[in-house]
Amino acid sequence: MPPQDKTDPISKRQSLLANLRRTHESQKPVSAPRPANVAQLTESYDFSEHPAYSEVRIAKAASQTLGVRSPFFRVAEAVRGVELKIDGAWVRNFASYDYLGLNNSKDLHKSVKDAATEWGVSATASRLVGGERRLHGELENRLSRFIGTDAALVFVSGHATNVALVSTLVGPNDLVLVDALAHNSIYEGIRASGAAHTTFPHNNYAWVDKQLTEQRDRYANVLVIVEGLYSMDGDTPDLEQFVDVKNRHNAWLMVDEAHSMGVLGKHGRGITEEKNVRPEHVEVIMGTLSKSFCSCGGYVAGSEALIDLMRYRAPGFVYSVGLSAPNTAAAIAAVDRINAEPDRVERLRSVGQKFRELAIGLGLDTGESQGYAVCPVIVGDSLKAVWMSNRLLEAGFNVLPIISPAVPDKSARLRFFLTSEHSASDLQSVLQETAKLRNQAKSLTIAEMANG
Ligand SMILES: Cc1ncc(COP(=O)(O)O)c(C=O)c1O
Repeated sequence: MPPQDKTDPISKRQSLLANLRRTHESQKPVSAPRPANVAQLTESYDFSEHPAYSEVRIAKAASQTLGVRSPFFRVAEAVRGVELKIDGAWVRNFASYDYLGLNNSKDLHKSVKDAATEWGVSATASRLVGGERRLHGELENRLSRFIGTDAALVFVSGHATNVALVSTLVGPNDLVLVDALAHNSIYEGIRASGAAHTTFPHNNYAWVDKQLTEQRDRYANVLVIVEGLYSMDGDTPDLEQFVDVKNRHNAWLMVDEAHSMGVLGKHGRGITEEKNVRPEHVEVIMGTLSKSFCSCGGYVAGSEALIDLMRYRAPGFVYSVGLSAPNTAAAIAAVDRINAEPDRVERLRSVGQKFRELAIGLGLDTGESQGYAVCPVIVGDSLKAVWMSNRLLEAGFNVLPIISPAVPDKSARLRFFLTSEHSASDLQSVLQETAKLRNQAKSLTIAEMANG
């Protein structure tokens, strides 16, 4: 087994939480001692005593203690294109995965209504045993043709796709090498698989190469996992180098294209199109239907054998209901729109590049972002990031902060999701306001942020 990696997000998150816990321990209400004999309880269990509830308590206490309104779970009262109505006011939205602006498409709305009329709103059973619908095959054919693989399979959730996929592919005799910034769903899949795992420094294929030179022969199979576009930082891996490394060490490569499909490549076909790598040179491509495909669910794309393996063995597919007809129809219509209107992809690319250029011009720190659909503005302090998010909302912009423990406090940030439908003036106005607030925040004390 490889040594426990200190950069492992699971361990990193635990130590960040331990710090926060120490800070807030004194505010914890003292709970009554639990009765020795649980069977004697006359009332149901109080889940605020659950060990994991301390994280919830910390989150609530943080905003209450500091007197700062929490930006999380903001309720939208209505949606209109790139606008949301929040607290009675329309604001421009920079927190949506709808990269290609399809949520507002009349074609998608009609397809969903027709599908509900024809098939109802639920698949009503697992596909294996009674829930298979003609639409599922239609979507999977479109997806595999779009991506350039032999076959594809859709699941009801993107998160569940990763858990089922990774835990079906590898087991206790195998090793997973995973990028340190990979999504939680990938880590959950690794945990469920029982495989050994090591996180590698973000995007560092040379590190993977060295690790495999030293360790490859200790494991039956090795799976290397990267993402096509990282959703916290907006950067991409050097896919060609990862393909070369996994080939030389007889490993498999999996790419999570949740944020890169529809975004990268001239036609939006993801990182393989963008980096000119043939899709069949990557063993496993997965993605979600919830972003550019404007629906809900996930998919795996690859060889016929990989898809058969998932179809018959992946627990999140076999033991879960089929994707509903309206969701399937939305994704079918989305693939058709993207094929018919490649200018959406082009517009998104120019919005992303323009945003990054303008932000840098205004002195904002965009970190590693390459200007594709996701761009952070690093603030470097969780409280200031929350304060800025709240002030931006008042100024008419919905932009969410990413704070500790999701990222270390020193890289707390505002994260901007961009879409093909944002206008040049949207970018100008939100960035000017952000730059103004960024300067104000520099000199603000905690008390001033709480009051202001
Ligand atoms: C990289 C990545 N993979 C998987 C998922 C899970 O997808 P879904 O939200 O569609 O369940 C996400 C979610 O944002 C993600 O960012």
